[in-house]
Amino acid sequence: MAQLEGKRAVVTGAASGIGRAAALLFAGEGARLVVVDQAAEELGELAAEIEEAGGSAVMLTGDVAEEATAERIVAACTGEFGGIDIYYANAGISGEMLPLTQYSTEAIERVLAVNLLGPMLAIKFACPAMIEGGGGSIVMTASVAGLGGNAGPAVYSATKAGVINLAKSVASELIGTGVRINAICPGLIETGMTKFLFDHARERGTIDKVGQLNPLARHGAPEEIAAVALFLASDASSYVNGHAIVVDGGLSASLPFAPAHVLRADTKGYVKR
Ligand SMILES: NC(=O)c1ccc[n+]([C@@H]2O[C@H](COP(=O)([O-])OP(=O)(O)OC[C@H]3O[C@@H](n4cnc5c(N)ncnc54)[C@H](O)[C@@H]3O)[C@@H](O)[C@H]2O)c1
Repeated sequence: MAQLEGKRAVVTGAASGIGRAAALLFAGEGARLVVVDQAAEELGELAAEIEEAGGSAVMLTGDVAEEATAERIVAACTGEFGGIDIYYANAGISGEMLPLTQYSTEAIERVLAVNLLGPMLAIKFACPAMIEGGGGSIVMTASVAGLGGNAGPAVYSATKAGVINLAKSVASELIGTGVRINAICPGLIETGMTKFLFDHARERGTIDKVGQLNPLARHGAPEEIAAVALFLASDASSYVNGHAIVVDGGLSASLPFAPAHVLRADTKGYVKR
């Protein structure tokens, strides 16, 4: 049987990257979906692709940082499908690639609103409907940037640390409800958010160097994060709760090293990469 047969799911940030890969995977696994994004055209294309493949997707255009959108999302899922089992709060923005000292207060507030207030509103409005239905699974996209410094702007990192904590602290608040909540911490994934970095590396002919700092020595694909989102969304993870799963090729497991020389398992010593 398909892993999400009969489930009713929301995926935000579904028009691109990780959210798009997750929406396609969830639909392929039998979920009926409300797909959410600000990018109406790309969202429409995704919904059409899901429907053409025999799936079911309702599209909802809106800003996840707004309370009205969060309310509309839950109303759409319960109205259309009779309930809500899965909420993948994935939409996020990187903000400007600047140190905190150079951010305007408005720009800080926007990153906080999309990346942290957004998941909070998702939890706030999805939980009552999930509890009414006897349980559910909330999944959020955090980041390795939320585990430490130097993996993105401080403003972005702080919001992702907040998302990791939300998974832990809200899990306790949901005691006895049957609603689980977890986060995913992706490493470097090729998506719309990181396009500038990949374009730049391809222009310079250094694309094979991207991702070299993790033990798998490569960057990740959106589908590799979607696969973990599917696990957390499905009953396969029925006893996983209040956790943040790192999916980064081993990046955050390893201490910094000199990239020119590495110790490889198949050799007796340090070799040039
Ligand atoms: N790409 C990476 O390397 C990486 C690493 C760690 C975490 N993440 C996180 O993964 C998540 C998905 O990002 P992605 O990499 O797929 O990027 P992406 O830019 O390809 O996709 C993000 C989607 O979210 C939508 N979105 C942004 N703000 C929104 C808002 N306010 N309301 C509704 N939709 C909105 C965008 O329109 C876009 O379609 C984000 O939370 C991001 O922080 C990405």
